[in-house]
Formats: sequence, structure tokens, C-alpha cells
Amino acid sequence: MKTSSRIIFITGTPGVGKSTFSELLEKTLPAHLIKISKLVEDKNLFSGIDREKKYKIVDLDILCPAIKKAADEIFSIKNKKTEIIIIDGHLSHFCPEADMVIVLRTHPSILKKRLLKRGYSDSKILENLEAEAIGVCSIESHELHGNKVHEIDVGKLSPEDGLKIIIDVVGGKKRSPIGEVDFLDWIIS
Ligand SMILES: Nc1ncnc2c1ncn2[C@@H]1O[C@H](COP(=O)(O)OP(=O)(O)OP(=O)(O)O)[C@@H](O)[C@H]1O
Ligand SMILES: [Mg+2]
Repeated sequence: MKTSSRIIFITGTPGVGKSTFSELLEKTLPAHLIKISKLVEDKNLFSGIDREKKYKIVDLDILCPAIKKAADEIFSIKNKKTEIIIIDGHLSHFCPEADMVIVLRTHPSILKKRLLKRGYSDSKILENLEAEAIGVCSIESHELHGNKVHEIDVGKLSPEDGLKIIIDVVGGKKRSPIGEVDFLDWIIS
């Protein structure tokens, strides 16, 4: 890997805008985008299906090395100077390979509308909204990645405005450490 090469994880609760902003980052930076959902599908990385919650069970002991391998392969392609790889997925922050972790946040009242549109069950929506209100992804990310973690509330921002902030954070022009986004009002209301 080149010294300037970096791996940036974009994580957060389902529906906060990870894929929306990752795709914009890929086009704008430019960067190479790896979507965890696609990697899991393409490489058959799931170990089963949770019938109740209807999602694929992914083994982190398999996923994390697969992310590293995919990133190393991209960095090693000659004549294609990839400097930044964006990893899009809410499991990314459980893997150790990041140079930076960006947790996208969206207020639960906004997130609820998005998850309702997806037709999720009431229990799945509540579980995700509570996780977002408490900041579960930020806490989990901080446990493994410490001060490499930034969190950005993009929920009320237009894609253009959100993207500008993320690019400033990625470029080191702005810091957005965890602790400033507070959605606990949603829990007590
Ligand atoms: N800042 C935003 N303003 C308005 N709508 C947004 C914003 N960010 C995302 N959306 C919309 O919210 C929905 C969910 O976004 P997206 O698919 O990017 O979320 P995600 O975090 O990738 O979800 P998942 O974890 O399920 O992959 C999409 O319909 C997207 O267009
Ligand atoms: Mg997505």
C-alpha cells in the first residue's frame, strides 16, 4: 500500500445515508468504492440467514480479511493510482483496517420515515431508531478505532452540503469527533 493510500469506512445505522454519500464520494474525490453488501454477495461471505430479522448473518472473521484483501488488490493495480478506498456498510466499523471511520447520523424522527418506506417490521424499525438515538455505531466505532472516528449529522443536509463536510473531514480540513451529535431528545419525547 502506498503511504498516501487510505481506507475510509462509512458506517451508521441502516438508512442514514451511507450508500448515498459513499457513491457521491466515489465520484467526487475520486475514490474506489467497496460496498460490503456486494462483497458479501459476490464472495459468499455469509454463514446463514436470520429468518426472523430477514438478514444475512455475516461472520466478521471472514468479512474483515475479505475487506483487507479487496483493498490490497485495488491498491496494487499498477497504472491505476487509487489513493482512497471507501468501504460502505454498517458492519465496517467492526473491522480493524480503517485509517478513518466516518459514522453518519440522522435524527430518528427522519430515519423513521425512511425505514417505514422500506416496509421494515415495527420491531426492526424501533430497534434501529433506538440504536440511532443512543449512537450505538459511534460507541462501537470508538471502542475499536478511538480518535480515528468522526461522526456527522447528515440527516437534514442536502447531498451537496453533506458531501462538502465529509470531504473536509476526509481531507483533514475539519474534525468532527464523536460526542457532539445528541439525539437523546427522541428517547425522552
Ligand atoms: N441527506 C439526505 N437527505 C434526504 N434523503 C436522504 C439523505 N441521505 C439519504 N437519503 C435517502 O434515504 C434513503 C436511505 O439512504 P441510503 O440507502 O444511502 O442509506 P444507507 O445508510 O446506505 O442504508 P443501508 O444501511 O440500508 O444500506 C435513500 O432513499 C436516500 O435517497
Ligand atoms: Mg446502503
